[in-house]
Amino acid sequence: MVSSDRWKTAQRYEQDYWDRVATEVEAQGQDRLGGYRWRRDQLVRMLAEAGAPEVSDGSARVLEVGSGPVGVIGFFPGVHKVAVDPLEHFYSGRPLLVASRSPDVSYRTGSGEALPVKDGCYDLAIIENCIDHCQDMDAVMLGIRRALKPGGYLYLTVNVRSRPGYYMHRALSRLQIDPGHPHTFTQSRVRPFLRAAGFDVLHLEHGSFSRAWLDDLRGPSLKMRAKALLGVSEYLVSVIARVKEQ
Ligand SMILES: C[S@@+](CC[C@H](N)C(=O)[O-])C[C@H]1O[C@@H](n2cnc3c(N)ncnc32)[C@H](O)[C@@H]1O
Repeated sequence: MVSSDRWKTAQRYEQDYWDRVATEVEAQGQDRLGGYRWRRDQLVRMLAEAGAPEVSDGSARVLEVGSGPVGVIGFFPGVHKVAVDPLEHFYSGRPLLVASRSPDVSYRTGSGEALPVKDGCYDLAIIENCIDHCQDMDAVMLGIRRALKPGGYLYLTVNVRSRPGYYMHRALSRLQIDPGHPHTFTQSRVRPFLRAAGFDVLHLEHGSFSRAWLDDLRGPSLKMRAKALLGVSEYLVSVIARVKEQ
């Protein structure tokens, strides 16, 4: 858990980031926010590979935590869909950011630590690229587990770093050179983190550190090359997990 001040700094950084995205959307159109269909297809495929294809058949009750302005939930089939984000009051006031929202999703202001939803109601919870932005990761996972039905499914994605990158990033985060990520993950931390939160991991996919490092090293911006030189290049881990049987 990080302090409330540290989390608020991260959220100010996040809000500035989405303000810049809104300006880019104005210049480039809605394609700037593209990628949700690809992410939805990945989620549907991973659920099938985890042995749970029925979750994608349109009958599921779905919750997304830290959805950002739209979230993959807008593109995923479901009978009841709720998205929760602490910056919802900000996103909903930016028409350019929310133009591709689906009317069948109820967007709510709230945090993963105190979810504004009923317990035991959801078949699937989605938390994409959000857990390392939260104040109290354990409280968020407890909240998600409570919101899920017994045997409910979790889809989590998180950017991870190599072991030396973990220590370097932790220092950069504490010095607020990276203000946006109060927490740091390694790939090997993901499974124990989910087990401790009461989930069984059914299916895990991951990118490659060397690929991420090379992409950063050859990247067009100074920031990318600095990330490579500091060893803090990140790659994605995506997981389907299930609430453990009691
Ligand atoms: C990097 S964005 C990702 C947004 C979206 N999931 C996506 O992949 O496009 C991280 C999001 O997590 C949200 N967030 C930060 N702390 C949170 C918390 N404690 N509970 C829920 N969401 C949180 C931020 O407001 C932000 O919208």
